[in-house]
Order: sequence, then structure tokens, then C-alpha cells
Amino acid sequence: MIEPVEFRFDMPAEINTNRKPYIEFHHVDKWFDDQKVLDDVSFEVNRGEMVVVLGKSGVGKSVTLKHILGFLQPDAGIVRVGGFEVSKLQENELVDVRRRVTMVFQSGALFDSLTAGENVAYPLRERATRGEALDEEQIQQRVDELLALVEVESVKSQMPSDLSTGMKRAVAIARALAANPEAILYDEPTTMVDPLMAQTIGDLILKLKRQTGLTSVVVTHDMKLARKLADRIVFLVDSKVAFFGPTAEIDRSQESVIQQFILLDEVSLRS
Ligand SMILES: Nc1ncnc2c1ncn2[C@@H]1O[C@H](COP(=O)(O)OP(=O)(O)OP(=O)(O)O)[C@@H](O)[C@H]1O
Ligand SMILES: [Mg+2]
Repeated sequence: MIEPVEFRFDMPAEINTNRKPYIEFHHVDKWFDDQKVLDDVSFEVNRGEMVVVLGKSGVGKSVTLKHILGFLQPDAGIVRVGGFEVSKLQENELVDVRRRVTMVFQSGALFDSLTAGENVAYPLRERATRGEALDEEQIQQRVDELLALVEVESVKSQMPSDLSTGMKRAVAIARALAANPEAILYDEPTTMVDPLMAQTIGDLILKLKRQTGLTSVVVTHDMKLARKLADRIVFLVDSKVAFFGPTAEIDRSQESVIQQFILLDEVSLRS
């Protein structure tokens, strides 16, 4: 009999109380030519915590995520992941960081020539090449489990082009989880889908937060999603951190852009 693959996340949910930061930004500045896109940005994400980065379009949310994975380097300040300063890492060490921290990209970005199931199997096959003993039956079993976890088990043999945007996003999340990461980054998980699908994806991310206890960063401009998911919120205004704190405290912020976001959210609740 084949032993079932036990899929363990490194951080159980109860670790939420552990106050140790996994991701840290200390006074980070980033320039593109003469445009300062991050201005003295500081925040941290504790192990097992979900932090939501909010802000207007173009304020630097995706740029922030790219610093976590070392795709961009700060011009000043420090970004640390798992205790390591990202800008000091060699390329092979960065590969390791990108294995431990996976990103669900804004565009979804599945491999178009592979079925949904093979997309999810891809990181599992990579793990196998790194010496983790996963045979084909275990890989298929894990793919089934992951697709069931994100509630799209029926799409396993379908091609990405046959899937709705929402389903593609669920498969992309399953693929990110297949790498058995320590942390997961979501870039705008609920944009470009209808409001019902946005709610479904938000509920899914909440379920994964509760079931996996993974350290997570969610980038969005959706205040409702932030309230649903965040332990703490980072709110960027004009490239600066206008608010960083527990979700419940954001309503007390006097910053006018934050008040506008809150007001718009209340208006959309009423309509
Ligand atoms: N590689 C780059 N080269 C030059 N400018 C860039 C680059 N990447 C981002 N920018 C600029 O940096 C700013 C912040 O971009 P970013 O993609 O982080 O915005 P965002 O907050 O994610 O917006 P959105 O909500 O629309 O996704 C923008 O003005 C953008 O044009
Ligand atoms: Mg973006």
C-alpha cells in the first residue's frame, strides 16, 4: 500500500500568537528614474499572520511584493524575509526564497499548454527532483487534495483557456500551495472577476488562512476584502505608509484617502 503523502505546512494555525516577524520592511525607499514609488516604507508580517496592503492603483503595492521576492531591490532601507536580508542574497539563495514564499500573480499566470491538474502538479514534480520522494500516484493524490481544497476538483483535466477567471485564480492558488511554501503572496486576488466570484475567492483565502495558518500578504484596493481577511493593514498613500496597524483601528485614521476608501465601502454596502 502506498503511504499517503502527508502535506504539512511548516506553521500550524495556532502559531498566530507568535509575534516573530517573517517579512520585514525597514525604511524602504524605491525610485524609478525620478519617481519615488516607495517612500520610507516600514511594516512587518509575523509568522502565521495575514497582512493586507491597501492603496490606490499605482501607489506601489505590486512593487512592494516584488521586493519580498527579490525581483526588485530597495534603493534605501532593508527588506528581510525569514530573517535574511533579501538584497544580500546570491541568486541561488533567492531561488530558495522564491520556493519558500510563493506569489499568486495579479494576472493568474497559469501554464497555458498544461491542464489545470498538471499546473498544480508542476511544483510537486519539482519537489520530487529535489529529492522529495513523491511518486506519480502520490502526486496525483496531492493534486486532487489541493484542487478540492480550493473547491475546483472537477477542472483537473481542463485546459486553462476553458476556465473562467475565477477558476483560473483558484487553480493558481492551488499551484502556489503545492510548492509547500512558508508564506504566500496574493496580488489583487479579487480584481477582474464579478462581485460574486470576488466573494468566493475572498472566502477561499479566508478558509486557507484558517486551515493552513500560512504567513500571507494580500495586496488589494478592496476595503471589504481587507476587513474580511486582515490581521493588520498597511495602507499606502502617496508612496508612504499612512496606516499600519490592526484592522479594527483603521476606522480611526484621519487620513483623507483612507476615509474615502471607508466611505466608498459603506456606500457599496448600502447599494
Ligand atoms: N519596472 C518598473 N519600471 C518603472 N516604473 C515602474 C516599474 N514597476 C512599477 N513602476 C511604477 O511604480 C508605480 C507603482 O507601481 P505598482 O505596480 O506597484 O502599483 P500598484 O499599487 O500595484 O497598482 P495597481 O493597483 O494598479 O496594480 C507606478 O507608477 C508604476 O508605473
Ligand atoms: Mg499592482
